[in-house]
Formats: sequence, structure tokens, C-alpha cells
Amino acid sequence: MQVLSVASEVYPLVKTGGLADVAGALPAALKAHGVAMRTLLPAYPGVAEQLKKRKAVASFPDLFGGKATLLAGQAAGLDLLVLDAPHLYDRKGGAYGDPQGNDWDDNWRRFAALGRAAAEIASGAVKDYLPDLVHAHDWQAAMAPAYIRFTGKRPVPTVMTVHNLAFQGQFPVSIFGGLGLPGAALSLDGVEYYGGVGFLKAGLQLADAITTVSPTYALEIRTPEFGMGLDGLVRVRDHVLHGIVNGIDTEVWNPESDPHLAATYSARSLGARAKNRRAVEERFGLARDEEPIFCVISRLTWQKGMDVLASVVDDLVGMGARLAVLGSGDNSLEGSLLAAAARHPGRIGVVIGYNEPLSHLMQGGCDAILVPSRFEPCGLTQLYALRYGCIPVVARTGGLADTVIDANEAALSAGVATGVQFAPVDGDALRLAVRRTLALHRDRKAWANMQKQGMKSDVSWTHSAARYADLYRSLIAAG
Ligand code: ADP
Ligand code: GLC
Repeated sequence: MQVLSVASEVYPLVKTGGLADVAGALPAALKAHGVAMRTLLPAYPGVAEQLKKRKAVASFPDLFGGKATLLAGQAAGLDLLVLDAPHLYDRKGGAYGDPQGNDWDDNWRRFAALGRAAAEIASGAVKDYLPDLVHAHDWQAAMAPAYIRFTGKRPVPTVMTVHNLAFQGQFPVSIFGGLGLPGAALSLDGVEYYGGVGFLKAGLQLADAITTVSPTYALEIRTPEFGMGLDGLVRVRDHVLHGIVNGIDTEVWNPESDPHLAATYSARSLGARAKNRRAVEERFGLARDEEPIFCVISRLTWQKGMDVLASVVDDLVGMGARLAVLGSGDNSLEGSLLAAAARHPGRIGVVIGYNEPLSHLMQGGCDAILVPSRFEPCGLTQLYALRYGCIPVVARTGGLADTVIDANEAALSAGVATGVQFAPVDGDALRLAVRRTLALHRDRKAWANMQKQGMKSDVSWTHSAARYADLYRSLIAAG
């Protein structure tokens, strides 16, 4: 079975968040299930250069205002199709915005082009390649089902995966004329959304199946509280919605061989984590002592509950916790965390920025990771933490609720606890969760047992890849 995956970021070529990890890891996991996955992504600066056996396989003389070439090639074990459209993607800055962090004005065009290219490929634009199914990720790829439906030359089944309903790709109706869709597409059962054009809305409306990245988030997005205005549509399409929890790449994230660690280790040699802890202490300017280090590796945003964390850091330090924060995001949150570090030298260390190697070292050296998200479709850092014996302390929401077993009395006595859950996301509950974690940490045996349980949990793609493969098969059979 040939599946074309469409994503705006793919690890290790380009990453701003968990979507890249998923798009980068799923293809290898699907191989075992008879799925040959090719991945279409934009040629941001530096992407095409990474392709091995690079070859132009199609060209579009005018794709949203300029010439585009489709390059095929391999990188990091991935089979890639890279959309080389310099007028859209060859610019300084990030995947979605300028170096100052403002979204590009023409993002509608940049990502409509991605969807359009997917539809052209599905219609046979690449010689000897006809995908049996197209799998689109998030709003940036969500126009693929729309173009396949309205301009495609063959009916290819489509899957729309929602990694985060908060990002929807909403644009004014004035862009509609530039999309190259028939007038009929601007309707309630097309791309129209609250009087404008909604990319994610279009994908949710028009894909044959919808998935999201955990069973709990699949339930939550049916409600107004988590539905971000799309819960009505989600409820209407309930019968085709599946919650499939993310896995992780267990080779990239393997404490036994991770090159970014000061010392590698396994569940049988947890003592070796001490060396990584030392390295974290040095990197974050933390005092050397036996109190646990809580880490945060995150976008610093409201979604991630970073304002709540900032409001209780003084209390956490008062309880004895140390804190190592790696992240970037909202200026004001960066500022309050840096101020907290200045108030508590040796107890709180903050590194602003994006640093993949450091994130590995933190998972391998910190005692616990805090994930106080207000909503979390899946969350990956708690999965990396489980694999690294770093205890996840998480809000009871979305994929966090699905992947961490709370250390309540029942779970502790059954020996199955892997972390700490708390709700709601407010200062009191977070303080209490940290207090519980500190108490658990004092019981060395219980703590080591939780670490080992976590390291035993199956966080690989094995189970979920099988679910995607089954879904693809059923859609192809129905088509
Ligand atoms: P989201 O995609 O919503 O940001 P996830 O938990 O799914 O949340 O994925 C975040 C990914 O980005 C993880 O791989 C995490 O390790 C990584 N990450 C987040 N912030 C940083 C950072 N500052 N430096 C390095 N990696 C980071
Ligand atoms: C999104 C979500 C996150 C999820 C990731 C990968 O960025 O915010 O919860 O883990 O996508 O699916």
C-alpha cells in the first residue's frame, strides 16, 4: 500500500514541535505493516540540500505565483517529496514566520500550495507513482482533501490528522479567489468557515477519516471547552473520528545509546543517571545537592500552562525543588521565568532557546518533568521522560491522561504507577502535585520502581502504527 503523507515539518529536516517528530517517525513504523509512506513537505531553506539521490520528478509552471519543482529523494531513512517553490518557501526565518516571529502574510498561499501539490501527485503528476491514500497533518496540509475533492482527477481516500485544534489556518474570504477552487467549494460543506476560509475546517469536513493523537483528546474536542469553535463539526463527523495515541522514535530516544547524554544507562543501571544530573546542574547553574530536579522542555505558552508554573515557582523552591527550564515562546513568560531564576540562583536555571541535544540530556539527568498543559492533544515530552526514567508530573488532560499512570495508592500498591497526574491546571493543584512528587522521591524504593515501570511502558509506535495501517486499509477497501 502506498500512502502519501503531507506535513509542514518533518524531523530531522525541520521541526518546531511534536508534529515533526510524528511525521518523521511514523513512516518507519508503518513499514512493518506493509505501508510504503512517502512524505511531502515544503523546501524551506536547507531542506532540498539534505536529499540523497535527489531528482526532479514533476514541475508546476505556476503554483500560486511562481514556478515549482517537485524533488524526490531520501533523507534520514525517509522517502521524501520536497516542494521546491522559492517564491513561497525560500526565505529567512522559520517555517511559519519571519525572524521576528510574525506569521508570513501569505501563509494561506504557502500552505494551499502544499495541499494543491498533494492533490496533483494523487492525480498522477509523478510518473510511476499513484498513492492509494493521502494522509494530511494539521491545518498546513488540510487543503489536500479539499483539492482532491474539488480538483482531483481520481477519488483518493484521505485521512486528516489533528495534532492541535488550536491552530486552524483561518483566513478572510478575500483569499478564496486565489485558491483556484470552483465557486461551489465556498460553502458550508466545503472550505467556508464563519464567513471566511478555514483550512483545518475544510480538512475536517472533507477527509474520509479524521484522527487525533490520543483517545482522550478525541473525546475532548467534541466539547465546546476544547473544540475551539470546531466542536460542532467534530460532533457531526463523530463516526469517522479516531483517537490514536502517538508513539516515539525509540532509536532517536534511547537512553542506552543516546549520544547527547553524559552517560548512557538502562533500567538496570539507573545509577549512571547521576552523571547526567551533574551535567544538567552545570549547564543550568544549579547547586549540587540531593533534592530532585524538575525540568520543563516546552514552548512557553498559555497552552502549556507556563503562566501557572511561573506563578508558583517561589513556592516550589520553598518546598525544596530545583527547576531547569528549556524553552522559548511568549516574551512575557520568558521574562517571568528568567526573573524567577534571578531570584533563586542555584535553585532555578532557565535556558531560553531551542536545543535538541540539551533536551535529551535533561530527560536523562532530571528527576521529573513538569507538563502543566491546559490542553494537550498528545504530548511527547512525557513519553520521552517515561523512556528515560524521568518521572512525568502532568495535567490530567488529552494524551497526558492517556499515557501516564498516576501514583495513587491503588497504582502504587499494584506497582504500576509511572508518574503523577493533577487537575485542574491551577497553582494549588500544581503545588500539590509537586509536594506529592517530593514525598515519593523521599521513598527511594517507590521512586526507583516508578522509574522502572515507566521505562517498561510501551511508548513505541508498534501498536498505533497498526491502527493507522488498519484505518488506511479499511478506507482503501471502502473506496
Ligand atoms: P508541541 O508539539 O505542542 O509543542 P509536544 O510535546 O508534542 O508539544 O512536542 C514538543 C517537541 O518539541 C518535543 O520533541 C520536545 O522535546 C521539543 N521541544 C520543545 N521545546 C523545546 C526546546 N526549547 N528545545 C528542544 N526541544 C524542544
Ligand atoms: C501538537 C500537540 C501535541 C502533540 C503533537 C504531535 O503539537 O500540541 O500535544 O503531541 O502535536 O502530535
